[in-house]
Amino acid sequence: MQQRPRLVIGNWKMNGDLASNAALVASVVAGLATETDCQVAVCVPFPYLSQVAGRLTGSSIALGSQDVSEFERGAFTGEVSASMLHDFGCRYAIVGHSERRTWFGDTSERVALKAERAIGQGITPIACIGETLQEREQGRAEEIVAMQLDAVLERIGTKGIAASVLAYEPVWAIGTGKTAAPEEAQAMHASIRAHVAKHDAKVAAGLVILYGGSVKASNAGLLFGCADIDGGLIGGASLVADDFLGIVKAKTGTAAS
Ligand code: PGA
Repeated sequence: MQQRPRLVIGNWKMNGDLASNAALVASVVAGLATETDCQVAVCVPFPYLSQVAGRLTGSSIALGSQDVSEFERGAFTGEVSASMLHDFGCRYAIVGHSERRTWFGDTSERVALKAERAIGQGITPIACIGETLQEREQGRAEEIVAMQLDAVLERIGTKGIAASVLAYEPVWAIGTGKTAAPEEAQAMHASIRAHVAKHDAKVAAGLVILYGGSVKASNAGLLFGCADIDGGLIGGASLVADDFLGIVKAKTGTAAS
């Protein structure tokens, strides 16, 4: 069986300020001073990339953004390009987060373009896919997730997928306190991996698939213990150093109290 690295990524969303960022990063860096076999990153708001990049220097924690433009450069007011993110040392860029799909019109096709731009700059896109509650209740969860994945696959191919991370984030679990049950999440992760395997079994076996949606220190161990769950994309809990560190250090297969 292929060993995949565990990856835990914080998504700060539109939170933070200079002072609280400094305190949060200092605590997370200090908490990870000892060896951990988990790779860790934080995806911060654009204006704070430089601040956080500076404060992560010398640590093992990587920097990421929460979005990237589908365009390369030019007259696209308000957009931030992949090469700009590269300038600031971003290793990761979240694309297609459900909040962007819901509020900012990010279609699966646009998400695929964004992933392609990130890869073009050596940045790993974290492509988010996931169904709404209504879609799940209609029994269409796997179909929706496969459609979102296909849009990305069509654009970047399995070579692009091999340079990406996927995040399964059921929309009904994001920021709601409702986590998918480990078996439920595992079933979807397995189906995502099987879908990629239809195109390329080796890429599928090495693909890092994160779970996101109300992950906490108390449920992370059980989720990360599942065969096809390789880590987490963490929203709310990434804003509190102890909560985030508890997730990073969660022992596989155990639910911390
Ligand atoms: P949450 O957010 O952990 O606050 O549910 C996850 C995400 O939106 O990435």
